[in-house]
Amino acid sequence: MQETPAETVQRLKTERNAIILVHNYQPPEIQDIADLCGDSLELSIQASKTEAAVIVFCGVQFMAESASILCPDKTVLLPDKSAGCPMADMVTPQQLSARIKESPDMPVVTYVNSTAAVKAMSTICCTSANSVKVANSLSSQEILMVPDRNLARYTATKTDKTIYAWDGYCPYHDRLTPEEVTRRRQEYPDALFMAHPECRREVLEMADAVASTSGMLKYAKASRAETLIVGTEIGLLYPLQKASPEKQFVAASESLLCTDMKKIRLDDVATSLEKLTGEVKVPEHIREPAMQAVQKMIEL
Ligand code: 13P
Ligand code: SF4
Repeated sequence: MQETPAETVQRLKTERNAIILVHNYQPPEIQDIADLCGDSLELSIQASKTEAAVIVFCGVQFMAESASILCPDKTVLLPDKSAGCPMADMVTPQQLSARIKESPDMPVVTYVNSTAAVKAMSTICCTSANSVKVANSLSSQEILMVPDRNLARYTATKTDKTIYAWDGYCPYHDRLTPEEVTRRRQEYPDALFMAHPECRREVLEMADAVASTSGMLKYAKASRAETLIVGTEIGLLYPLQKASPEKQFVAASESLLCTDMKKIRLDDVATSLEKLTGEVKVPEHIREPAMQAVQKMIEL
C-alpha cells in the first residue's frame, strides 16, 4: 500500500533524525505532523534544546533563522524558502545603524520578527510573549523597540520605561479595526475578545486579553466563556478548537490571513527532508552577535 504524505514525512523524519517545529498559524495538516506546535518563544526554546540533527521549521524565514542562530551545528530546513514576514523587512541594518548613531547609549529591543542581521545589532530580542519582561530587565529608562510599533506601544503601557517605537507593523494585524471588533461583539454579545499585541492600540484597548498565540490558547482553555473572538491570524482557530472543542471560536476578521504562513505544504516538508532542500544558515559573523541577543532573551 502506498504511503500517505504524512506517513512519508514520519518515515523521513526518523531516517534523518529530525524534529518538526510548527508555528501556531500553519495549516492544519502541517500542525498535525508537528513534534511541537507553538508560539515564537516556545519554538526558539525548543530549537535551543533539541538533540535532533535536523530541524524542519514550518513557519517563516525569521523563525528558521532563529533556529540556525541557536543551533549552528544542526541543519535547519524551511520547506518553502519564499515564506517571509513583511514586518521583518520593515527595518534594515542600514536604517537601524543610522538610528543607533542618534542615540548610541539607548538599548535596542528587537522583536524576533526581524532579520538575523538586525538581531545582530540589538541589545536583546523579545517576542510577543515576553516583551514586558524584556523591557523591565534593562536598567536603561529609555528603550528603542524595533520593528513593530504596535508591540512597542503595547509594551509601553505595561512598563514605566520610555519606549521609542520603530514604524513597522504586521500588515494583517494592523488592519483589524475597532469597527470590525464591535460588529463581532454585537453578533456574539457574550463572547470574550482576545487580541495579539501586533494589533493597533484602539483594538487592544477593546480586548479582554492581550496575548501571544500560545498565550491565547492558555487563556481560552482556562476561560469560562463559551465563545471567544480571536484577534489574530486565523490559523490559530485550528489549535484553539482542538484544545477546547466545547468552545466556539470566531475570527475577529476573515482578512486576518497571513499568506506567507500558508505556503508550506506536506509535499514540501517531505521533499525538504528527503533532499535537504530549503536550508537556512546564518553566516557566522552575523550569527555570533545575533545569538547574544536571542540567548539573553531565552535566559530571562
Ligand atoms: P507569536 O509569537 O505570538 O506566535 O506570534 C508570531 C507572529 O508572527 C505573530 O504575527
Ligand atoms: Fe509576519 Fe504578520 Fe505573518 Fe506574523 S502574521 S508572520 S507578523 S506578516
